[in-house]
Amino acid sequence: MTKITFQTVDGTRYDLEAADGTTAMENAVRNDVPGIEAECGGACACATCHVYVDEVWREAVGEPEPMEEDMLDFAHEPQPNSRLSCQIKVRPELDGLVLYVPERQG
Ligand code: FES
Repeated sequence: MTKITFQTVDGTRYDLEAADGTTAMENAVRNDVPGIEAECGGACACATCHVYVDEVWREAVGEPEPMEEDMLDFAHEPQPNSRLSCQIKVRPELDGLVLYVPERQG
């Protein structure tokens, strides 16, 4: 299990124990993190699972693949640290990861 945290704009933190190999999005949905809608179910086709990666974690999380990058253009206010949480695989190196949920999706 790997600890990951989603933080919403009002500062609420959701500290989750995530199984390795799952995606960050799946854990957010399972734990009812508000703002992670994940309409396409993880197919990298909706951008409603958009998150901002905490700066200190950007390198560990890595850069988006080209397909994800294209989809991020449809996200609400994408930033250089934007990722789609359905494309972030939970793994032990990400223990302590913090992801910020944007103010709104889409
Ligand atoms: Fe649709 Fe991530 S859940 S792009």
